[in-house]
Amino acid sequence: MFETLHQRRYLIPFNAARLPQQFTDVLVIGGGVAGLRSAIAAADAGVDVLLLTKDTIGESNTWYAQGGIAAVLQPLDSYQSHVDDTEKAGAGLCDDEAVNIVIKEGPERVLELLTWGAKFDKKEGNPHDLAFTMEGGHSFARIVHAFGDATGKELAQTLINTVRGRERIRISEKSFAIDLISDGGGERDRCLGAIAVIDGQTQIIWAKRTILASGGAGQLYRESTNPKIATADGHAMAFRAGATLRDMEMVQFHPTTLYVAGASRALITEAVRGEGALLVDRHGHRFMPAYHESAELAPRDVVSRAIIEQIRKTHFTHVYLDVRHLPGGQFRERFPQLAKLLDEFDIDSSKDLIPIHPAAHYMIGGVDVDPMGRSSLAGLYAVGEASCSGLHGANRLGSNSLLEGLAFGARAGLDAAQAAQSEAVHFPLKLEHKIPASTKTELDITDVKSSLRSLMWRNVGIERAGAHLEETREIIAFWTRYVMDKTFLPATLGEAATAGWEIQNMLTVCALISTAAHARTESRGVHFRTDYPRRDDAHWRMHLLWQRPLETPIPQPIAAPL
Ligand code: FAD
Ligand code: SIN
Repeated sequence: MFETLHQRRYLIPFNAARLPQQFTDVLVIGGGVAGLRSAIAAADAGVDVLLLTKDTIGESNTWYAQGGIAAVLQPLDSYQSHVDDTEKAGAGLCDDEAVNIVIKEGPERVLELLTWGAKFDKKEGNPHDLAFTMEGGHSFARIVHAFGDATGKELAQTLINTVRGRERIRISEKSFAIDLISDGGGERDRCLGAIAVIDGQTQIIWAKRTILASGGAGQLYRESTNPKIATADGHAMAFRAGATLRDMEMVQFHPTTLYVAGASRALITEAVRGEGALLVDRHGHRFMPAYHESAELAPRDVVSRAIIEQIRKTHFTHVYLDVRHLPGGQFRERFPQLAKLLDEFDIDSSKDLIPIHPAAHYMIGGVDVDPMGRSSLAGLYAVGEASCSGLHGANRLGSNSLLEGLAFGARAGLDAAQAAQSEAVHFPLKLEHKIPASTKTELDITDVKSSLRSLMWRNVGIERAGAHLEETREIIAFWTRYVMDKTFLPATLGEAATAGWEIQNMLTVCALISTAAHARTESRGVHFRTDYPRRDDAHWRMHLLWQRPLETPIPQPIAAPL
């Protein structure tokens, strides 16, 4: 069905000998929490690092994070409690080792940020003088935050400043990685760097080790909390290069984004519910207690589905967050960014209800990695949202993502640096790749992109059904025949080529998500099938692993007991 997609190894033809070539020990693709933390770890281990970001370094999911970072930092909290909460949300698909790594190493990674200058919100008398908040699925208020609801900006800025202080790290912004380069010289393939457009010029970057930290996939959906950069480039690049991807059907939807027609879906942090906000429908009825014992603080998948159900029952377009009962001024003081956003829409949270609707938020599936962040393709690591470490299982607990980026970033960076120091790597400097000219008509890329995002939201969103998934796959397969056979050349198209590569990446990953969602005939965590509404541990306590050129993912049973 997806032949054109599976046949495509590189998005552009190239002859390495004719292109400018750069060399580095470690190449990091991505400048969010995971990429920045990896780069610091690699540089501190004594190697040279080149870090690429497709936009400016501030444009990342990390920058926009609101709620905070979950970490066990208080004596009454415990690792076991955080582990249990994470695994409960993960619905049987978490990897115990990954969970233990992140939860035990995470607190040290968070405290280290304080020594690098991070200004987290404080409460005197608390451990480390830090203020902690609560979020859905957590059984303890263990979320550290900054400037109320601007945790991501403070975290990113702290890491960027630290990176800028490391002489061994070179940052190249507005540099689009098109593909990972792999070659085995007749032996097993290994990743040898990337082909990227830097300063408007196509270049080959030869790297002894490559760390993919390219973030998420929110832009695959019409309703999304993610910034424009989140087009799943890394997932698609890794797939083309032959790395194994895992659990691609698992996409997390955030229950509460501001619903104002015509405006983009700005996130309203879960911490708002952690501080006491209620969810009510158009009749002012508080509905969450009827859906889950933890009401507004139930896991995200439960809250998102409950909202969709309540919207259906009340024949309306959205529901509301109600913070009117919070003591005067508390909302504005605790969530200053959000208060400002609501002001822009003349919503006075002390008097008005806040209209909200769920949206695509976090890509759980990704490049399958081991406890050091190593992928199945030699030389390639993946960290953060581009990876699937097993921490989140079938549903991610709020505020565990930044923690994962810190913990796995530090591990992968160190391991990559040590490997780069200890092993000689041969770069095939004359590598060449040809692509036959397309014989098919052209489709309007902008049109395909917006239709694809609507299709994914409609059929591969919070609720999924076999027939709609099959129809989605057929439509995507049709588009791939006309889009995946094209080459978008920077020499002729300039910056416009980027939009071409992004839609090729988006189509690739949408094909993977919808096919995996079709294959998993059960409901688990964020994956809800209306035609298979029950969790089926007897048949489906499995991961779905996928490697090109296989047409479908392969189930892999989980050995550990529940
Ligand atoms: P990102 O931070 O998204 O960084 C990706 C990087 O890759 C960018 O620098 C980008 O330029 C680069 N890149 C991508 N493609 C290419 C390419 N082709 N070439 C070159 N560079 C490329 N999680 C929490 O734990 N707590 C929170 O409070 C929280 N709040 C959130 C709020 C919002 C609005 C959003 C969207 C997410 C939130 N999350 C939160 C999730 C969390 O922010 C992300 O999962 C996490 O930041 C991902 O980090 P990352 O380093 O993997 O990717
Ligand atoms: C939020 O602040 O609600 C987002 C937290 C997260 O995605 O982890």
